[in-house]
Amino acid sequence: MTCVKLSARYVALVALGAAPSSDGWAQGAQPGSQVSAREYEGWRQYSVHCARCHGQDVLGNPVAANLLESTRDGGPVAGHEAFLAVVLAGRPGRGMPAFAEVLSKEQGDAIYSYVKGRAEGKIAAGRPKPSP
Ligand code: HEC
Repeated sequence: MTCVKLSARYVALVALGAAPSSDGWAQGAQPGSQVSAREYEGWRQYSVHCARCHGQDVLGNPVAANLLESTRDGGPVAGHEAFLAVVLAGRPGRGMPAFAEVLSKEQGDAIYSYVKGRAEGKIAAGRPKPSP
């Protein structure tokens, strides 16, 4: 049973993974803020791996923690290390998957930069524009 569920999840991730590079997927998003290459990569990885539970553009979703609140100053995972620890280890039994075998440290760092930028109001909702 678990195996069936897991493989369904990976199929979904693979399907999503192919999507951001296609223009069709991005057409709905308004071009947003100018961001660094790292923040742009964070947006991409977040959209593939996190948005289905935490909401597109980190705008919240009833199924998971609101990461705009979580990473704000004083929030439970406001710091880079605290955030990354949850992302890599997950919270087994509470619905937060572990990403240690899915994301590299650089990809996790990039996601943090993007989410933190959203929480601080530096990055608007929508598809950001990478700096040339
Ligand atoms: C399958 C759904 C799901 C996916 C996919 C998911 N999360 Fe979560 N996440 C959750 C849930 C549910 C919680 C709340 C767990 C709890 O109650 O402690 C959570 C909690 C968190 C927390 C802790 C928030 C807090 O306030 O303590 C962080 C940070 C986080 N997720 C980041 C991410 C990132 C980054 C990604 C993508 C790499 C991601 N999550 C993908 C479901 C998900």
